[in-house]
Order: sequence, then structure tokens, then C-alpha cells
Amino acid sequence: MFQKKTAPLPPGKYRMGGTHFKNDKAFIRTAVRDVRRLVEYCDLNAESSLLDWGCGAGRLAVGVREEIGRIRDYHGVDIQPELIEWADVNLAGEGFRFTCLDVSNERYNPDGSPERTLAAEPGSVDAFYAYSVFSHMNNVDTPAYLRLIGEALAPAGRALVTCFVEEDVAAWEENPGGYGPLEWKGPMHCTRFERPHFENHVQAAGLAVDRFEYGRETDGQSLYVLRLR
Ligand SMILES: C[S@@+](CC[C@H](N)C(=O)[O-])C[C@H]1O[C@@H](n2cnc3c(N)ncnc32)[C@H](O)[C@@H]1O
Repeated sequence: MFQKKTAPLPPGKYRMGGTHFKNDKAFIRTAVRDVRRLVEYCDLNAESSLLDWGCGAGRLAVGVREEIGRIRDYHGVDIQPELIEWADVNLAGEGFRFTCLDVSNERYNPDGSPERTLAAEPGSVDAFYAYSVFSHMNNVDTPAYLRLIGEALAPAGRALVTCFVEEDVAAWEENPGGYGPLEWKGPMHCTRFERPHFENHVQAAGLAVDRFEYGRETDGQSLYVLRLR
């Protein structure tokens, strides 16, 4: 019912990283785990409008399907056309839609437009999810996108985001040496913020930190739940 056509992800230049892409079981297990956290931390339910920003191949949509069934609106947005095309063929359906945006990110779409958008109506998003997206983002796009998140959230909305944050490090650094489990290679493989610096961006965007969990996400990222101030 959910799947229009069974197909492996196409080989190609698309990129996603992290242990949750290791195999199918991990892909589904981490999706269900994240949906449960969205339910607990962001009040995700069948009536919610959920924006999965940087959705990749739609991992979270699989978790929504497994855990809740369908919701009012699941919207997956990404800048890699191959991934969105795959998600559209295999995961889209009633309550589930995907949008490809040609906006710039140095790692994933360097030739994209500098015009930033989340493809969301202002005040429309009950639950916002960005897993491993700010972990590949520069220090100019990050505060700008946090502001867009603030605009997109409904008054009682919540945003669950992950990123690399540490105390007593440079305000922002690309591919910090000797940090984390990998040898970071290529543009924006790992972008790390000093914790107060990231939280200043959050504040400046009109958002507040509702929850912080240090270092337990992919490759040592931390989890934030944000809400409007
Ligand atoms: C490491 S992957 C994570 C994929 C997905 N969130 C998950 O956890 O399964 C990061 C994704 O963010 C997307 N991305 C980066 N910048 C973006 C932007 N400005 N707008 C939308 N997607 C973006 C990339 O194309 C990539 O698919």
C-alpha cells in the first residue's frame, strides 16, 4: 500500500552518511526510534504536519508508516534529486509527499541557488525534524535556516535537530582534526559548533532550547529540541 515499487536506492552521486545507513534493519530501526522521540518530545501525532528537512531518501517516512500509519502531512524536503525521485516513487502516497529544492549546500549541491527556503508555509509546521543536516552546514546558512525554522513552526510547534556541539572549541569549524570516529574528508563532511555559539544562533532566531542531549547521535552529534520563545 505504502510502497509503489520495490527498488534499491540507485547507485549514483547521492550522498548520505552515518551508521543508520549501514543496512536495511538499522535504517528502519533508527527511523522508528526517531518517530518515537518526535512523539515524546514534539507531540507528533496523526493530526500533525511534519517537515523532514534534509530528508535524504525518506528514512523518517518509513518510521512514520511503521509507528503511526499515516499522519495529516509528512513533507520530506531535500536538495539531492536522485534521493527525492527514489522517495517519491517508493514512499509517497496519501499523507506523504516529497519536494526537491535546488538550493545550495557546499557538500550536497554546491551549484544550487543561494536563495534559502524550507518550502513551508509560515506557522504551519507542528513537528520539524533535521537529522544530520546542521552537521554539514556553514556558519552563515545555519543561523539563516534557524530563522526560517522559527518562521515555519506553528505556535506550539517543536523542532528536533542534531548537530556537533562541544564546549571550549572554535565557534565553528569544518572537518575538525582528531574529532569523532571518522577522518573527515571533502567540503562540510563534519561541521562543529561551540555550544554557546550554536545556542546564540538559536536565540537570535527567536527560538529556545527545550531539550539538549549531548553526544549520543550519529558520529557523536547532540540532539536539540527547539521551540518558539
Ligand atoms: C547526512 S544526510 C541525512 C539524511 C536524513 N536526514 C536522515 O537522517 O536519514 C543530510 C541531508 O541533508 C540534505 N541537505 C543539506 N542541505 C540542505 C538544505 N539546505 N535543504 C534541504 N536539504 C539539505 C542533504 O542533501 C542530505 O540528504
